Amino acid sequence: MRLFLDTANVADIREAVSWGVISGVTTNPTLVAKEGRDFHEVIREIAGLVSGPVSAEVIAQDADGMVAEAKVLAGLAPNVVVKVPITRAGLQATKTLAELGIAVNMTLVFSVPQVLLAARAGAAFVSPFVGRVDDVGEDGMAVVRDAVSIITHYGLGTQVIAASIRHPAHVVAAAKAGAHIATVPFKVLEQMLHHPLTDIGIERFLADWQQAGQKGR
Ligand code: E4P
Repeated sequence: MRLFLDTANVADIREAVSWGVISGVTTNPTLVAKEGRDFHEVIREIAGLVSGPVSAEVIAQDADGMVAEAKVLAGLAPNVVVKVPITRAGLQATKTLAELGIAVNMTLVFSVPQVLLAARAGAAFVSPFVGRVDDVGEDGMAVVRDAVSIITHYGLGTQVIAASIRHPAHVVAAAKAGAHIATVPFKVLEQMLHHPLTDIGIERFLADWQQAGQKGR
């Protein structure tokens, strides 16, 4: 399973890329708004920091508007993927964009029937929002699991991105569910890294080394 970073914060992306663990980035209008920067400028900068897909979302609600915005976003950099919400207009736009060779990440997906529609319309990626489904008392990871199993069974080309990830256990569950990608906030990436026994172990090794009078390298 590949890891994408779910943020529009360039400093966090630089840091995560330096760890060698990030294969792409997803943004959404909320994440971009939080940065207070020009949308196109920030997407161009992010696309230059990672070699993999960078998702940028359309704002239009009608299919023609979505396609027009998508063409502009896709023109910002070769690795930009256009995020389109799953609505009637979103499906129409996805069909058109797929025919034009513009990759779509179908977003705001909360159910398996929505996954099937996204895949059939030609979305390159589909993003079930695990945490938000959990929030309403349902099993968000079940959507990911069923999505992967159906897409694999029928040989559909769509890749499943486990999105709305809230903690490291979600990432592990997404991997077990067979998700192609999990997109994680930087905070979750840090939580995945840290373990108290690692910190204690480093401290003890250093103390033992110094007590034995060993010199550094
Ligand atoms: C997905 O691509 C979205 O940007 C994101 O995962 C939404 O997560 P949230 O539910 O934490 O806002």
